[in-house]
Amino acid sequence: MILIDGKKVSEEIKKEIALEVAEIKANGGKTPHLAAILVGNDGGSETYVAHKVKDCGEVGFKSSLFRFENSVTEKELLEKVIEINADSDVDGLIVQLPLPKHISEQKIIEAIDPRKDVDGFHPLNVGRMTIGLPSFVSATPAGIIDLLRRYNIQTSGKHCVVLGRSNIVGKPMSILLSQKSEMGDATVTICHSRTKNLKEITSQADILIAAIGTPNFVTSDMVKNGAVVIDVGTTRVKSEQTKSGFKLTGDVKFDEVAPKCSYITPVPGGVGPMTRISLLKNTLLSSKKIF
Ligand code: GUN
Repeated sequence: MILIDGKKVSEEIKKEIALEVAEIKANGGKTPHLAAILVGNDGGSETYVAHKVKDCGEVGFKSSLFRFENSVTEKELLEKVIEINADSDVDGLIVQLPLPKHISEQKIIEAIDPRKDVDGFHPLNVGRMTIGLPSFVSATPAGIIDLLRRYNIQTSGKHCVVLGRSNIVGKPMSILLSQKSEMGDATVTICHSRTKNLKEITSQADILIAAIGTPNFVTSDMVKNGAVVIDVGTTRVKSEQTKSGFKLTGDVKFDEVAPKCSYITPVPGGVGPMTRISLLKNTLLSSKKIF
């Protein structure tokens, strides 16, 4: 069993990005600039946005953080998005989700200029990705593809089972893996809460991607010997053993599943760091104006 070290790979890619940014700046080019909007003070969202800002600094990007109270109106938020869209110095804009219930996430996402949508959530990017055009791809699936590539894990002709059909992970993941491309060409099955015979299907997976958000959902009896298992789960489970009071817990019961695998990602230190890198890659791409 090989443990896929997302932290190590992400640090390698981070260095590559930092080098490229230094070179761009040395040649008088534009410093990539990421803007983030954070509403309210949800602990998880605060942490994610703080990581994104820190990552930007570490690779030489500029970042701007715009904070709003939970009471912000949809109109105020839309106005901010429109203002940032018009700021030619900003290459990428993300609005951290979830948003308060009185605000339509879809409306906000669709207000973002697709050319700055480095989260890849805008329907135009989702559509372009789906038909194989240059686009911003959602960070987690893009990070998983990078991980598989770096570990030389072939996808062509493999049976990939994706657990979860979210717009952010499961759906784009299934499209990328089935795409006619170097890291695609797989036969993909998507499973979700209404899937019957779940164990029967997951047991056929050469590559199993768990993205359902239920801690320890995947048990050893659901996994084929020699499978590649990618754990996207990052549920913050209360813990008395950590300083923060939370422990990140994956969707896979690691201890019993790992011995059956050819490759497996840990939580933390697997997919998570790669997701952070994808956002940097998309922002760099945006500063180079891919479309
Ligand atoms: N909330 C959970 N994941 C994400 C993400 O990738 N981007 C944004 N903007 N919000 C999120």
